[in-house]
Amino acid sequence: MEHAAGTVLAWYHDAGVDEVLLDAPLDRFAASTKPPALPVSPARRADISAAPPSVSATPNVPVTAEPSDQAAQRIAGSATDLAMLREHLAAFEGCPLKHTAKNLVFGDGDPDANVMFIGEAPGADEDREGRPFVGVSGQLLDRMMASIGLDRESAYITNILPWRPPGNREPTPAEVAACLPFIKRHIELVAPKVLVLVGGTSAKTLLGRKEGIMRLRGRWLSYQPSESAEPIPSLATFHPAFLLRSPGQKANAWHDLLMISQKLINIC
Ligand code: URA
Repeated sequence: MEHAAGTVLAWYHDAGVDEVLLDAPLDRFAASTKPPALPVSPARRADISAAPPSVSATPNVPVTAEPSDQAAQRIAGSATDLAMLREHLAAFEGCPLKHTAKNLVFGDGDPDANVMFIGEAPGADEDREGRPFVGVSGQLLDRMMASIGLDRESAYITNILPWRPPGNREPTPAEVAACLPFIKRHIELVAPKVLVLVGGTSAKTLLGRKEGIMRLRGRWLSYQPSESAEPIPSLATFHPAFLLRSPGQKANAWHDLLMISQKLINIC
């Protein structure tokens, strides 16, 4: 019996099922089902944040019946520094991923850095630790950055989504749209001179382009923070998770890294 249970668990694990969300099945078709209170772990402090999140930290951000995209813009826009943005994000109810994630993954590195790397979404390791890019692909990203003299003391790192999609699935367009005002404000507050868009989701979302990463990478494009703001030179490159699967593309990634290095020398 024990052996059979172990086999089933191994099968689930191999299939990518690594989260148990509820203790008992939930009949979502039942008419009057009130969502059960899901256990939500306390969000861990991201390296750059000063204080743990608290809803009471956002007294001027009332929860109203306004459309959720407007609410997200208003809440994100009202943050005047990164610690406040983190608190507002922790209190934000517009993205259901918050309830399946263990931790909010806000950002890491130097908030005054000239260069900001933006990935897709946390994976299991990041979700556990509450820091972006700490798993296997994060270790490769660290080595890529180190190859041009960058590290978490001289660069800032975050993601389009601050919560892990269950099972590491691709984020849905609705999840990306819900969190977009927060990453936009995050960029405004860090105000980097150069953006590195790590992977297709980051590049397409922030550049507003439909092409895939193969077409977008390896050339300087512009991220436009707002109509009146100066565009930020932005370079899309391969996601390290992709490079781990396709090491033949590392030469192209190296080309991208050299472009980033040269740009930083030229403009900083
Ligand atoms: N992949 C990402 O895009 N971001 C992380 O933080 C980790 C893996």
